[in-house]
Amino acid sequence: MAIRGVKSFVTSVALTQIIGFASAAEYWQAFNSSINPLNITIPQIPQTTSIDPTTECTYYNPDPSLFNVVASEWPTSWDIATSNGMNTSAEFTAVYNSIDWANAPNISVRTLSADGSIDMTGYDTTNDPDCWWTSSTCTVPKLKDVNADIYECPEPETWGLTYDDGPNCSHNAFYDYLQQQNLKASMFYIGSNVLDWPYGAMRGVRDGHHISSHTWSHRMMTTLTNQELLAEFYYTQKAIHMATGLTPRYWRAPYGDVDDRVRWIATQLNLTSILWDYDTNDWAAPTTETVEQVQQSYDEFIQMGTNGSMSTHGNIVLTHEITNVTMSLALNNLPNIMKNYKHVVNVAVCSNISYPYMEKTVAFPAFAEYVSQNSSSGGAASSVLGSNTNGGVTATGNAATQTSASSDASILGAPSILFTSLLFLSSVIYF
Ligand SMILES: *[C@@H]1O[C@H](CO)[C@@H](O)[C@H](O)[C@H]1NC(C)=O
Ligand SMILES: *[C@@H]1O[C@H](CO)[C@@H](O)[C@H](O)[C@H]1NC(C)=O
Ligand SMILES: *[C@@H]1O[C@H](CO)[C@@H](O)[C@H](O)[C@H]1NC(C)=O
Ligand SMILES: *[C@@H]1O[C@H](CO)[C@@H](O)[C@H](O)[C@H]1NC(C)=O
Ligand SMILES: *[C@@H]1O[C@H](CO)[C@@H](O)[C@H](O)[C@H]1NC(C)=O
Ligand SMILES: *[C@@H]1O[C@H](CO)[C@@H](O)[C@H](O)[C@H]1NC(C)=O
Ligand SMILES: *[C@@H]1O[C@H](CO)[C@@H](O)[C@H](O)[C@H]1NC(C)=O
Ligand SMILES: *[C@@H]1O[C@H](CO)[C@@H](O)[C@H](O)[C@H]1NC(C)=O
Ligand SMILES: *[C@@H]1O[C@H](CO)[C@@H](O)[C@H](O)[C@H]1NC(C)=O
Ligand SMILES: *[C@@H]1O[C@H](CO)[C@@H](O)[C@H](O)[C@H]1NC(C)=O
Ligand SMILES: [Zn+2]
Repeated sequence: MAIRGVKSFVTSVALTQIIGFASAAEYWQAFNSSINPLNITIPQIPQTTSIDPTTECTYYNPDPSLFNVVASEWPTSWDIATSNGMNTSAEFTAVYNSIDWANAPNISVRTLSADGSIDMTGYDTTNDPDCWWTSSTCTVPKLKDVNADIYECPEPETWGLTYDDGPNCSHNAFYDYLQQQNLKASMFYIGSNVLDWPYGAMRGVRDGHHISSHTWSHRMMTTLTNQELLAEFYYTQKAIHMATGLTPRYWRAPYGDVDDRVRWIATQLNLTSILWDYDTNDWAAPTTETVEQVQQSYDEFIQMGTNGSMSTHGNIVLTHEITNVTMSLALNNLPNIMKNYKHVVNVAVCSNISYPYMEKTVAFPAFAEYVSQNSSSGGAASSVLGSNTNGGVTATGNAATQTSASSDASILGAPSILFTSLLFLSSVIYF
């Protein structure tokens, strides 16, 4: 079990048809999903059970009783999310019109140079008026009313475990390893990948990872228009919700390319950016960096866990689940990471974020709670807790399927939801 101290309750809410949004941040209440995040059963097909990358990557049509993907309701995979007419869809227009664009910051859309890098000509890089991370690694917005970035775990000797660019096929061995080690990472999912490989996204939630958005098409966000940015966020939220029943409150900018205009639009959808303070550059191996160079970065970051560098704070490390090379680097290095750091946790846990999703049906433990729950009390589920706090324990967890019967329940306020059927909501704490 990836769930411990299950706190559950059931309630029902009478729902009425959505007719509009009182505030932009309510958009997620109109999403539909047949997935119960508290009881996810992933279809047993070779793609989800094999650890042979070729078998895993044979395309499958998702079970239509789980996802009814109507192509006309989605942007084109890997194209900017306004594609396929999405910028004029009724649902997108409703969200767009619920935002007061008169308050949007007047910050220019950036352009790309011929080589694909960002063109900074004319930008005041010294003062960085737009808190543009690409210019100065700024993380504290210059604008008011904009959510500030999270970029490190504040707890000492703590490794903030994050993986970008999933879900994908060929990742079963990687997720199996995290499950065996009872490691729960922050996973930043690309919307296009979620539609292409939805069972991978189901597994992320089922295993108790912290799922966040990584945009629809993985562009440099500061180069997109306001409308394109909104679509990149909105359709990724919709995709993750469809596949998992959960809508993230956190996101990460591809390449870290975020400024106060991008942050303002994310904030309208109640999204907060999570960046990093150490970058392994693993995605670049074995092309623009060698595997040895990436390994050297890992070695340095691992050494910092014991040489005093992390005595007053932790880190957030940028790594990727993208390829066999990056996942193999992860598997090779995690044993030493767990040995050299007191705690290896996801960003929700190290930041005491109880509710990393809009739906308050899933809660994460605060850091202190997480690290103190490292021994017995409550049967098999409890073994899930220890391993990643001190690296010593190996636990095998089953899926995070729910046992709604157990309850040392804390009753959470039911979110106000406005649909036409009955919903059953349970609250569960993932460790
Ligand atoms: C936005 O999220 C915060 C918690 O992060 C919540 O308190 C607030 O109600 C949300 N706003 C809306 C309009 O849903
Ligand atoms: C959810 O389903 C209802 C009923 O089929 C539909 O009217 C609504 O547009 C759907 N919501 C979204 C965001 O697609
Ligand atoms: C969980 O899902 C399975 C299959 O989808 C179902 O048979 C079972 O009744 C569900 N359990 C709960 C507690 O909802
Ligand atoms: C939607 O996008 C298309 C293609 O980029 C563009 O031609 C059209 O003007 C846009 N419509 C709106 C309402 O923004
Ligand atoms: C936005 O800034 C540009 C210069 O960057 C200026 O020309 C324009 O008047 C400004 N628009 C508003 C509405 O302030
Ligand atoms: C700790 O190790 C890192 C990485 O090798 C190094 O940059 C740093 O200077 C070391 N700090 C101390 C106090 O030795
Ligand atoms: C997905 O995984 C396949 C197989 O490992 C790889 O070739 C591809 O580059 C990955 N695609 C993305 C978009 O991550
Ligand atoms: C990498 O690929 C090989 C076979 O091609 C596979 O056996 C191995 O499990 C993969 N490693 C990871 C971490 O996915
Ligand atoms: C998390 O909670 C602990 C205990 O209450 C506190 O010491 C710590 O500062 C909190 N961390 C954050 C990021 O709020
Ligand atoms: C956690 O583990 C440590 C070391 O094994 C032990 O001393 C401590 O009592 C444990 N904490 C709890 C709450 O069981
Ligand atoms: Zn990425």
